[in-house]
Amino acid sequence: MSKYNSTIQENKQRYLDELFDLLRIPSISADPAYKDDVFKTADEVAKRLNEAGADNVEICETPGYPVVYGDKIIDPSKPTVLVYGHYDVQPADPLELWTSGPFEPVIKKTDLHPEGAIFARGACDDKGQMYMHVKAFELMMQHGTLPCNIKFMIEGEEEVGSANLEWYVKRNQDKLECDVILISDTGMLANDIPSITTGLRGLAYMEVEVTGPNRDLHSGLYGGAVANPINILTKMIASLHDENNHITIPGFYDKVEELSAEERAEMAKAPFSIDDYKAALDIDDVYGEEGYSTMERNSIRPTLDVNGIWGGYTGEGAKTVIASKAYAKISMRLVPNQMPDEISELFEKHFKAIAPKSVKVKVTAHHGGEGYVTHTTDKAYQAASKAYETTFGKKPIPVRSGGSIPIVALFEKELKSKSILMGFGLDSDAIHSPNEHYGVFNYLKGIETIPYFYEFYAENH
Ligand code: BES
Ligand code: MN
Ligand code: MN
Repeated sequence: MSKYNSTIQENKQRYLDELFDLLRIPSISADPAYKDDVFKTADEVAKRLNEAGADNVEICETPGYPVVYGDKIIDPSKPTVLVYGHYDVQPADPLELWTSGPFEPVIKKTDLHPEGAIFARGACDDKGQMYMHVKAFELMMQHGTLPCNIKFMIEGEEEVGSANLEWYVKRNQDKLECDVILISDTGMLANDIPSITTGLRGLAYMEVEVTGPNRDLHSGLYGGAVANPINILTKMIASLHDENNHITIPGFYDKVEELSAEERAEMAKAPFSIDDYKAALDIDDVYGEEGYSTMERNSIRPTLDVNGIWGGYTGEGAKTVIASKAYAKISMRLVPNQMPDEISELFEKHFKAIAPKSVKVKVTAHHGGEGYVTHTTDKAYQAASKAYETTFGKKPIPVRSGGSIPIVALFEKELKSKSILMGFGLDSDAIHSPNEHYGVFNYLKGIETIPYFYEFYAENH
């Protein structure tokens, strides 16, 4: 039982209602049709920060969606924590697979969330997790326990690459000065196995276009005699992995850090059931790079994946055609030290080199970002660890995540500040998928745990 528990229980319904209001606004940053809703969400977040007791609340215009800022400076000699989160969400499609409306939040029970989970797009990524910080701040204000200065920076373009947050951060370095950055936009192992994210992967995202003949052709009259760009593209893509599932792009692994046997043994201690993993995904076997465990494959190893592929005829029935063009979107998850620009260049060079003369290849890079690691010896990590221990009754396990928050590496460069990733979601919460949800337990536990981070961080600063 923590000192905040009774206040949280008394206010539980209001915390949920307020989050539900945010979740009802479809703030899809990728789709211009939702522009007004994204702006409206920024207004709403600003209003909530004000109500919670923040000063200097501001909706900061950028060339894209605004950044919401607010702060509470209690004493300049005290440490300053900068809270980062995002109020934008992923598109909700495919809509038909949702069991309730993506922007009509409801609580439903699931196997892993017997106390109920909030179903809505953005419930976990990241409105629910971001809003825990607003409520934790409110809680500290009510209890008179805020021991640090606090700054909020909530953006609206995380799901589309944070290009304008970079713009904003570079122009507001003084205003954003802080000792540590606190983020809840990742996950933990299980509700009874707390963990803290100590690493994120980077990202290089490419789009390729393969052009064969100058127009779509009759596949009988021309088939066999000219290059079919779809055949060629799939062959080229297939060659990007060898028989051991290593990536074949020359130089791709040059900067990949190999973990020591001790580090790998430490990682292997985290509880993980391969059978549960397979069952949850309805697969008979896992698949990946030779020589690495499933947990290693999706965290400390880089990957290459086709995210989408199209071209030719995909309508009803059969049309006999050789398409003029074929396309694919290919992403590479990177590990720390692998630079996205370098990797994009290696990819482009290689992809052009393996193309036969009979096609033309165009390669473009989309947004990317570097990976990130933080250490368990860090003061902020120690404070977070103690915070989880207080509210979960268990020491959290450090875990490197496979996901990416590219802006975190940029924060380190521009603001000279480390980030601590206190995520409370579960991998099974279906972020980016239909039926995204966030446990009510997780939401409330987050609100309860965050104030202890401030307490222990201030104590040991
Ligand atoms: N919150 C996620 C990232 C995440 C989720 C990291 C769970 C670790 C665990 C973030 O919103 C996200 O979706 N990031 C994108 C990259 C971004 C540039 C679109 C990703 O990882 O694909
Ligand atoms: Mn997120
Ligand atoms: Mn996301």
